[in-house]
Amino acid sequence: MKLLLLASYGLRPEQITLETLSQLAKADVVLCAALDRHGAGRLSRYCGNLVFLDDPGVAFTRDMPIPEMARRTMALFDRHARVGFLTYGHPGFLCGIADELIRLCERRGVRWRVLDAVSSLNAALNAVGVRGLGSRGVLLLSACTTNDVRAILPDRHILVFDVFQLARPEGGSIRKLWAAEIAASYPSDHALALVECAWRGGADRIIRTTPAKLERNLAAAGEASTLYIPPLPAGAWKRTPLRASLPRGPRRR
Ligand SMILES: C[S@@+](CC[C@H](N)C(=O)[O-])C[C@H]1O[C@@H](n2cnc3c(N)ncnc32)[C@H](O)[C@@H]1O
Repeated sequence: MKLLLLASYGLRPEQITLETLSQLAKADVVLCAALDRHGAGRLSRYCGNLVFLDDPGVAFTRDMPIPEMARRTMALFDRHARVGFLTYGHPGFLCGIADELIRLCERRGVRWRVLDAVSSLNAALNAVGVRGLGSRGVLLLSACTTNDVRAILPDRHILVFDVFQLARPEGGSIRKLWAAEIAASYPSDHALALVECAWRGGADRIIRTTPAKLERNLAAAGEASTLYIPPLPAGAWKRTPLRASLPRGPRRR
């Protein structure tokens, strides 16, 4: 029976788990689309069947579109029964290539399994020192969609992923929208943080900012930046123009 293992080394190669290494050791071939041989450091010593970015034969490149990467991965099932795909972060959380591979596996009747790994989700919460959920929990948003800007609820811890989208030259208007909504929802000196947990060596990088300065910081956000917004006390926030303009739900009787 064919099996695709969707695995990850976490945010940096030394975070790979024993479970992942032992499962990948049983695969016929393991593709890594996130690292080249040099960036993988000692990882290749522990996982002998790994094919890295730009290695001859598979030739993934850094900017290869997801459908092409998925097509090349699935083509390996013509010759192999067990294929591993090693990515970055948790393959089950905001991972477009894993979602596409799962879709293709289901269509072709290939079994698949996602192995747990360190994610930017838990690493970012740790980096900013969130130790509990507070009274209202944590809200996870993505800057990829304009809908999420309307979902801000200031009495929750909020993590906004994919803020690199707002740093793109074509992201100017949506960057303004996020910055304006946050400025309208929080006091101008509210302590925000753009968090980049260590992923290419070095240490965590945290840029402390405020709603007043956010637009400028977002324009320079790196591809691995997540915005953390700490909660306001319940009742200390007002409806903003964006949320006030949302259509009302059906009336309760
Ligand atoms: C497409 S998602 C991939 C998430 C990944 N599957 C995970 O579990 O971390 C990419 C987003 O995750 C966040 N991210 C990735 N690496 C990060 C890091 N080292 N530190 C903080 N956030 C990170 C950023 O918001 C980035 O835009």
